Amino acid sequence: SNRPSYSIASIPADGIGPEVISAGIQVLRALTKAIGSFELEFTHFDWDSARYKKEGTYLPADALDQLKKFDAILFGAVGAPDVPDHISLWGLRLAICQPLQQYANVRPTRILRGTTSPLRNCAAGDLDWVIIRENSEGEYAGHGGRSHLQTGWEVATEVSVFTRVGTERIMRFAFETAQSRPRKMLTVVTKSNAQRNGMVFWDMVAAEVGKDFPDVTVDKMLVDAMTTRMVLKPETIDTVVATNLHADILSDLAASLAGSIGIAPTANLDPTRQNPSMFEPIHGSAFDITGMGVANPVATFWTAAEMMRWLGEGDAADLLMLAVENVTEQGVKTQDLGGSNKTVEVTDKVCEEIENLV
Ligand code: NAI
Ligand code: MG
Repeated sequence: SNRPSYSIASIPADGIGPEVISAGIQVLRALTKAIGSFELEFTHFDWDSARYKKEGTYLPADALDQLKKFDAILFGAVGAPDVPDHISLWGLRLAICQPLQQYANVRPTRILRGTTSPLRNCAAGDLDWVIIRENSEGEYAGHGGRSHLQTGWEVATEVSVFTRVGTERIMRFAFETAQSRPRKMLTVVTKSNAQRNGMVFWDMVAAEVGKDFPDVTVDKMLVDAMTTRMVLKPETIDTVVATNLHADILSDLAASLAGSIGIAPTANLDPTRQNPSMFEPIHGSAFDITGMGVANPVATFWTAAEMMRWLGEGDAADLLMLAVENVTEQGVKTQDLGGSNKTVEVTDKVCEEIENLV
């Protein structure tokens, strides 16, 4: 057929990862069938903590070459109770994001219909943000070391790295994102009072790049003050750009202010499109609810919608989100959103809603 066909690498990995990814694939299959103008082909990779415990590595030697053949990567979550978190994170997720130059981590947040913010006076339209996280360097560059081990004068360093290339490209992406949104506002988050080298540089590059975007309204915030503004004046925020560490923290706060970490999606983009981008729910492997059938699949559905949008299927993305919000509005929700439905019930309902809408 001459319908476009997109090849998707699926890496469900650990904990609730496989539960939400299979729900996501079920919904994507329903969407493909209902729309009929494109095809999706999934290939599954069993790169997870069980593999690490058996073979000593999360990824086979040719993993990146394998992944480069796909149009996109759909990722679940990595992390196991008996593997240190820095081993699992660096062994799988960062081992994909960093070499594939997925330097822009994009985290949209808003309050879905039928869900509520824990903020008392926050109506749905008051919280509609996109947080852009630098995803290749900064505090998570992996620079540093340990020495004088097991002595009283033991030393550990964790060096933040801010390059001109890395800072300019994330700023440009953030300004473009802000420019594409109705309010055209960008908040540049730093800590340039205390971190007087890297963060002052970050502010300087933001000002330079901003000259190319005269229609974008820019303001600057220190990261600590930003947490306060997110809670007290959410309606004043639109697009946010921050470093790897700062945005990691702010986006978890954002997800909970929008109702639950169980709805929040993220995209790890290579905006140059030389490599496939990777899409994942922002939550982790959630050992406390693994296997209970109660994981909220909405974060993965929203993630799947962002993946379809990136692949050029914006109408499919919109249809999927319309179906998801119709279902949350009907009160079909998992327990983290105050509902009592299981993962499969929410998933089946979203599939049904997709069929109804087409
Ligand atoms: P977590 O996100 O796994 O869980 C935090 C809390 O949110 C738990 O109470 C959990 O039950 C709940 N939760 C998370 N996702 C949910 C969903 N879809 N539906 C309903 N409730 C949900 O974070 P935690 O507990 O700090 O980390 C667990 C493991 O996951 C660790 O090994 C950590 O390193 C890893 N992790 C992996 C990430 C990734 O793969 N990108 C991101 C965050 C954590
Ligand atoms: Mg995080």
